[in-house]
Amino acid sequence: MDERKAPGTMPPEKKLLRALAGLETEGVPVWMMRQAGRYLPEYRKVRADAGSFLDLCYTPELAEEVTLQPIRRYGFDAAILFSDILVVPDALGQKVAFKEGEGPVLEPITDEAGLAALGSPARVTEHLRPVYETVSRLSNSLPREVTLIGFAGAPWTVATYMVGGRGSPDQAAAKLWAYRAPDEFQKLIDILVEATVEHLSAQVEAGAEVVQIFDTWAGSLPELSFERFALRPVKAIRELLQARFPGLPVIAFPRGAGAMAARYFRETGVRGLSLDTGVSPGWARDNLQQLGCLQGNLDPLLLVAGGDEMRRQARHILETLGNGPFIFNLGHGIVPQTPPEHVGELVKLVQDWRP
Ligand code: CP3
Repeated sequence: MDERKAPGTMPPEKKLLRALAGLETEGVPVWMMRQAGRYLPEYRKVRADAGSFLDLCYTPELAEEVTLQPIRRYGFDAAILFSDILVVPDALGQKVAFKEGEGPVLEPITDEAGLAALGSPARVTEHLRPVYETVSRLSNSLPREVTLIGFAGAPWTVATYMVGGRGSPDQAAAKLWAYRAPDEFQKLIDILVEATVEHLSAQVEAGAEVVQIFDTWAGSLPELSFERFALRPVKAIRELLQARFPGLPVIAFPRGAGAMAARYFRETGVRGLSLDTGVSPGWARDNLQQLGCLQGNLDPLLLVAGGDEMRRQARHILETLGNGPFIFNLGHGIVPQTPPEHVGELVKLVQDWRP
């Protein structure tokens, strides 16, 4: 029987799914955010041939290939679909471009007229069909022990790019809209909740076994706005998804949430919580691990530095959280200057570790 189509009916065999279900695992499962990307020479080659970054995301054979590259090299326990959180605004009809050395650039939406010009959130899946084809190809080509993770950005983080028009250190444009006209800003969040549920559902239908929701900028919100624009939308997405796919494991990454992580984990009801580097592993063990599976949280710059310090801090995380349920990961994505051999060494350290 296909455990993917009837989640929760039998104990899963894959290591990562077992950790998310709170079951014992033989060793700690490991994958890394941004495990596909510019630090890999084989990625840079495909990327150079693909044309634009979005062309790469929307060409299933190429997106499949770059998703598989780190699996072949390192034997991670999970593959994360190669795509981006900004394909959702693209599918809503906002102009999105990825500029060399500059990151994403969007035509900013700053008022209700801008919201009214967006396409229907119920129909984002039409534009994103190539992404689901990538998922379905991966679901056939991945080694059987590897879990396939689908993903989307959380509404707040996606909104910061849609409103600001680019990445910013303080998310000021989105915050000011949210503070000056919260009910109007809520309309954008509601559009994104609906679009995200459709987008993640289509990934699950195509074969994604777990979904991760990236809220990179959650930590910039003060408590009351965090509740309204970070916690509640992710809770709504989790509930709507599980109404369609009971038992679907959902991981959330509320980066920078600090002590609010505990309420967030409990109230969103997600199965896994991905920790950023700033969270103390001991605090997380004592306050979060009884609520579900934790994931994280080595500093990506330790992976750049490598050596004794990388090994020492990786072991500290394993010794504190490794009794589970736990998935080893970074506290944020792999950066382009990472030496690929450091990744190999870290994966082996995690794979060989036992409590
Ligand atoms: O391997 C994986 O993790 C899967 C693919 C993935 C990408 N982006 C590919 C990508 C995932 C999960 C993301 C998520 C994403 N995208 C987030 C949330 C997680 C985080 O890192 O905070 C955010 C905020 C984005 C938006 C985004 N996309 C930015 C800000 C940038 C520019 C910065 C950069 O690293 O270049 C991107 C581009 C991007 N997305 C690249 C990759 C591999 C690099 C573009 C290239 O190859 O030219």
